Amino acid sequence: MKKYVVISGASRGLGFYLAQKYLEDGHIVFAGAREEYPIKLIELKKTYPNSLILLQMDVTDTTSIENATRKTLEFTDKIDVLINNAGIHSESSFEVLEKTNLDDCLSVYDVNSIGPLRTVKAFLPLLRNGSHSKVINISSESGSIGSCQREKEFDYCMSKAALNMGSKLLFNYLKKDAIGVLAIQPGWMRTDMGGQKADLDPYETACKLVSLFNRIEDINHPIFIDNEGNSLRW
Ligand SMILES: NC(=O)c1ccc[n+]([C@@H]2O[C@H](COP(=O)([O-])OP(=O)(O)OC[C@H]3O[C@@H](n4cnc5c(N)ncnc54)[C@H](OP(=O)(O)O)[C@@H]3O)[C@@H](O)[C@H]2O)c1
Repeated sequence: MKKYVVISGASRGLGFYLAQKYLEDGHIVFAGAREEYPIKLIELKKTYPNSLILLQMDVTDTTSIENATRKTLEFTDKIDVLINNAGIHSESSFEVLEKTNLDDCLSVYDVNSIGPLRTVKAFLPLLRNGSHSKVINISSESGSIGSCQREKEFDYCMSKAALNMGSKLLFNYLKKDAIGVLAIQPGWMRTDMGGQKADLDPYETACKLVSLFNRIEDINHPIFIDNEGNSLRW
């Protein structure tokens, strides 16, 4: 069955390849990008003129997300999959405490922790109309408190831990609507964020994740999982 999929941060990296994979599989994709659409996304639109809809969507800006929702409603009143993929690190994230700029944490929380909630809030009426609807928050093992061995990346790790809590709260709230919620660790990928030394190709990761999302139908499936679907420690 054709799915209606919204993806934030689809301009590059994992978000772009998730959009590409869903399109290749014949689904309808609403791909969010802030500011101007990059050439790659415009090229993808040429390949899929009827099934790719480009949305201007900055997840730190409620009005921008509401406008994106309005544009989506011009095409459909239902969404089956919402992928909160947009994510950032701050510039001094990899510095030790004495050298990191803690004031930058706020903008990271804004994108990584609050952005997904703003997006779910705006798209909730459409998710409620979807079939076996899912909210998928792209999290990270760096958000696991139980497994944490790091000594820095305060902004990023704390933002993903907050995203995990947000995912659990959403799960509790949306269960009665039969909307599933996942917080997934995609793996270390060769993207602008992950760098070129990373293990995983982002397109291959997107293929693996889409196949995993398709397989998970039970809303009581563990929420915080890796890219194989295995449960991770909170
Ligand atoms: N790469 C890894 O190894 C890795 C590992 C674990 C988890 N993750 C998570 O996977 C997700 C994707 O990461 P990636 O590696 O693909 O990162 P990336 O290549 O740096 O791409 C980040 C995406 O987020 C978008 N974005 C940033 N701020 C935004 C905002 N305010 N509103 C909307 N979009 C915004 C960017 O858009 P612009 O082009 O406009 O900047 C871009 O599309 C993130 O949530 C990340 O935390 C990545």
